[in-house]
Amino acid sequence: MTTRDKSNRPNAAEFAWQEDDVFGRIASRYDTLCDVFSLGIHRVWKRRVAQRIASEDWGTLLDGATGTGDIILRVMQESSARARTVIASDVSKKMLAIAERRLRAHKEKVSLRLLDAENMPSIEGGSVDAYSISLGLKICNRRLVIQEAYRVLKPGGRLVVLEASNIRWAFLNRVYLAYMFVCMPILGWLATGGDASAYKYLLQGIRDFPTAEELADELKSHGFAEVDFERLSLGIVAIHTARKPPEGSSA
Ligand SMILES: C[S@@+](CC[C@H](N)C(=O)[O-])C[C@H]1O[C@@H](n2cnc3c(N)ncnc32)[C@H](O)[C@@H]1O
Repeated sequence: MTTRDKSNRPNAAEFAWQEDDVFGRIASRYDTLCDVFSLGIHRVWKRRVAQRIASEDWGTLLDGATGTGDIILRVMQESSARARTVIASDVSKKMLAIAERRLRAHKEKVSLRLLDAENMPSIEGGSVDAYSISLGLKICNRRLVIQEAYRVLKPGGRLVVLEASNIRWAFLNRVYLAYMFVCMPILGWLATGGDASAYKYLLQGIRDFPTAEELADELKSHGFAEVDFERLSLGIVAIHTARKPPEGSSA
């Protein structure tokens, strides 16, 4: 698949939560599956993105596709002394139920909301200081999600995205994808007791997600400024950060 084909398809995994409740089916095993699929490395990525989110200057954060709340739990631990509130949102009730349990100690500061990151009419435009989404962009229509993130952010608000990316060295990237395409179905099949859908979307999303540079360009084309990214684990994933331009700025 060429770069042009990839960027023309805004939902890399071609996943639609309305048609397949895969996250509901795997919710209770989701964190274990992350360990299996990434050989535990997702913990390093999540720790890093939580630090990046926590280090930003915000009072209200909206986290899209929050899943089991793993990252928000880390953000709250990093932010314990600060007056901050978080809206942790997802389309899966079962994922949110787990997040609610895990975030119980922070219930005064974290509210759990059933929200489709592609369309959040109940969230007022320009109402949050920061928006984050981790490992969710590749399974959503990312253009709609980025558009919604831009809408709900206050002018000057910060965006933080953790997502699959690409290893810069083409040969290594091919080896990594080959490992994923050979080993993940086996690991996934064993870990889920034969539910192939659990890794089908993940594999396609990883393979067909834009490169870090392409995603940075997409963020700019949506109006974001100060777009930057940090590659982790040689570029297997990247953290993108950006700012909605402050009012009156010419960006
Ligand atoms: C791969 S998990 C990532 C969860 C969490 N952010 C993490 O890093 O562990 C993807 C999550 O996205 C949610 N999701 C999928 N489509 C969504 C959408 N359109 N809006 C909001 N959440 C969505 C799924 O229910 C699932 O919980």
